[in-house]
Amino acid sequence: VIMASLGWSCMTSFLTYETNKSVVVKSWSVGIINRLVQLMIISYFVGYVFLYERAYQEADTAIESSVITKVKGFGKLENNVMDVADYIYPPQGEGVFSIITTVITTHNQFQGICPEFNCSTNAECTKHLNSVLTNGESNRQGWWGIITGVCNTSVGTCESEGWCPAEDDSVKIKPMAEFVNFTIYIKNSIRFPLYNVTRWVIDKAPNPKKCIHDRISNSLCPVFRVGDILNQTTHNVTELAEKGGEIGINIEWMCNLDQDVELCLPKYSFTKLDAPFEKSKISKGYNFRFAKYYKTADGTEFRTLHKAYAVRFEVKVTGTARKFSLIPTVINVMAALTSIGMGTILCDIILLNCLKGAQQYKEKKFEEVGLKRSTVRVKSE
Ligand SMILES: *[C@@H]1O[C@H](CO)[C@@H](O)[C@H](O)[C@H]1NC(C)=O
Repeated sequence: VIMASLGWSCMTSFLTYETNKSVVVKSWSVGIINRLVQLMIISYFVGYVFLYERAYQEADTAIESSVITKVKGFGKLENNVMDVADYIYPPQGEGVFSIITTVITTHNQFQGICPEFNCSTNAECTKHLNSVLTNGESNRQGWWGIITGVCNTSVGTCESEGWCPAEDDSVKIKPMAEFVNFTIYIKNSIRFPLYNVTRWVIDKAPNPKKCIHDRISNSLCPVFRVGDILNQTTHNVTELAEKGGEIGINIEWMCNLDQDVELCLPKYSFTKLDAPFEKSKISKGYNFRFAKYYKTADGTEFRTLHKAYAVRFEVKVTGTARKFSLIPTVINVMAALTSIGMGTILCDIILLNCLKGAQQYKEKKFEEVGLKRSTVRVKSE
């Protein structure tokens, strides 16, 4: 009987509903603060979280993208007309490519012994024996080949083994100035895997291969004039042509799939990627070397070495697709409703500590109950 009645009393105490007893404070000042805080919280959630950050949508940032580039234009370098095959490197039309603006060419290099720096005894050369620095710039420490440790006393220079004659990269060559008039066509297509939405840049551009991109009047055209890009990145064109540089082309796809998918369009912007190195003397600009190899009639290999100063372009594609989704909506609505209660905490602090009559409020709010002997009422039949 006792077990059964214990079970019954558990059951009745479990099947109850508890609600908080509230203390109503008829104070204008606290009331205004309470409502103000609630209003602030509501406007934060409605204005920022829902309207601005669109928290009711789910986002797909895993954008898949393909970029193919094509540069057009002719330039002149040292009386040679340069076409795409001469100045684009690498030639495959990738998203990262360089337009060569200046080339220092060293013809007919053979493997052999070249003169390096001045010396009078072998000892002066042997101390550099283990130096692995190669391809020294004219203003930097480093050699053109491997130091043999022998001082050729008849010439008065240390010998080095490598491709001879060594390159003289201090020569001044007038850069290909016409590169500012070249055009870059960027063929970009993207896909948002979560929503299976595919978009590509030629959408909507009226004549996608003939137009020239303009930020205001033709912002969808995927053909860019190099000079226009340089204007926007505030590059010094003369210096860029002489020393090379790096430019980022950013394509941003911000798609709100709750609207018409036709409104999902790319936005182009350009950045100066080499800006951090501008003040540095050593790593300023961008250059690289490549060689073309030939053989003489008797089978000896020789090469033509090119030191190319180039403007390197890097196309970067980013994007986010957003669409209404129930789960983030419910979570954020719940968060908003819970946060409205935050007003009470602030008002309690003011009420119980700062206001006149705080003690009186405290007595009303916290009822002190002395511990009594615990009683378990057992229903007797
Ligand atoms: C670029 O083209 C314009 C107009 O066609 C021409 O006036 C200008 O001289 C060209 N610039 C260079 C550096 O060739």
